[in-house]
Amino acid sequence: MQDLENYWVPFTPNRHFKQAPRLLARAEGMYFWNDRDEKLLDACSGLFCCALGHGRPEIIEAISRQFSTLDYGPAFQYSHPGAFELASMLAEITPAGMNHVFFANSGSESVDTAMKLALLYHRTGGQGQRQRFVSRERSYHGVNFGGVSLSGLVKNRENFGLALPGVAHMRHTWIEDNRFTMGQGEYGADLADDLQRCVDLYGTETIAACFVEPIAGSTGILVPPKGYLERLREICDEHDILLVFDEVITGFGRTGAAFAADTFDVVPDMMTLAKALTNGAIPMGAVVISDDIYERITSSAPEQGIDLFHGYTYSAHPLACAAGVAVQKIYREEGIFERVAELSPYFLERVFDLREFEVITDIRGYGLLAGLDLAPEGGAGKRGYAVLQALYAAGLVVRVTADTLILAPALIAEQEHIDRICDGIKGVLRAL
Ligand SMILES: Cc1ncc(COP(=O)(O)O)c(C=O)c1O
Repeated sequence: MQDLENYWVPFTPNRHFKQAPRLLARAEGMYFWNDRDEKLLDACSGLFCCALGHGRPEIIEAISRQFSTLDYGPAFQYSHPGAFELASMLAEITPAGMNHVFFANSGSESVDTAMKLALLYHRTGGQGQRQRFVSRERSYHGVNFGGVSLSGLVKNRENFGLALPGVAHMRHTWIEDNRFTMGQGEYGADLADDLQRCVDLYGTETIAACFVEPIAGSTGILVPPKGYLERLREICDEHDILLVFDEVITGFGRTGAAFAADTFDVVPDMMTLAKALTNGAIPMGAVVISDDIYERITSSAPEQGIDLFHGYTYSAHPLACAAGVAVQKIYREEGIFERVAELSPYFLERVFDLREFEVITDIRGYGLLAGLDLAPEGGAGKRGYAVLQALYAAGLVVRVTADTLILAPALIAEQEHIDRICDGIKGVLRAL
């Protein structure tokens, strides 16, 4: 047996994992095979990234070709054609007026980049006193200090000191009245008024930006109530606060349109992206930036002077760009986002059928995303972890946050995959 001692697995109970590891050895299409050569259906697109399934030949070829052409070039003061090609492709599908792209290597880095851009935008506009951020309880914006400060997850925060000062949290949008609502809930648009309360409390001219995931993903698929995002946009406009959508999970078709911004018809000032940007094949994140922000910041720099003192060694890495271009071509040529809109009703119907189990206390869903709450047993997260293990034994790879089961099949899934996922869950819930 392989020595498992040295690798520290993230967000995982390591002592237990090393006694009973789940090692995925290979993957193709909708499936993984583990180290015992058992076939497992991927019910969460890896970690929401493999939207096109695993091992797409076009992506492999694009990466290989790039590797033998330009493996790396310095990311500062130099660039390469692939970076501009991918940025142009993104500008084409992002909402009108959002035509500028900054590349990072992960969602976490993208979020921290967007925070810096918000501060710089206001500073270059003569409002450097705008240094506060507003985000939300039960949000996840990655694990770097900026994103942790924004995030509304106690476990991700409590052990790591005080985080950044000046971040206020609005209430989350899970409310009892919307339990078992498919799509957007009728109740709770007024929760957006928490942003106005922050303005009233901290002063109109102190807030730089408001960060939200249009659908909170990692904390259990919290779909925004009807009118909620629209109200946030109104309050931001009224007070010159930038609205940032963290679309790391919702981006690239997950909601049945290119972005949740399109689905919910609310245009932010910046969007953070990652995951399905490259189908998870090579790490990459991006911030999509409005023309207004880009133009103000770049035009404030002195002639031949650097406009943004920020970047990563691997910003716009050639292999990631090659993967990104190949992926974006497939999204477009195969009408993947439209496909999600067609498949979503079937997916949601099947998932919502699981409400017949008493142990399921709520189900939420949109597009090809669903969250199912399990009644906790024996302490928070215990039942969730037990269900994850039982599903693995039954041939399913899912994501669990505490006692919430999260499903996000690849956007290329067929009805038969959805049936297998739901039947597998049924079998496990019956045996609880
Ligand atoms: C909304 C959101 N933002 C940021 C992140 C962080 O992304 P990464 O893990 O690539 O740093 C995630 C990861 O799941 C996410 O869901």
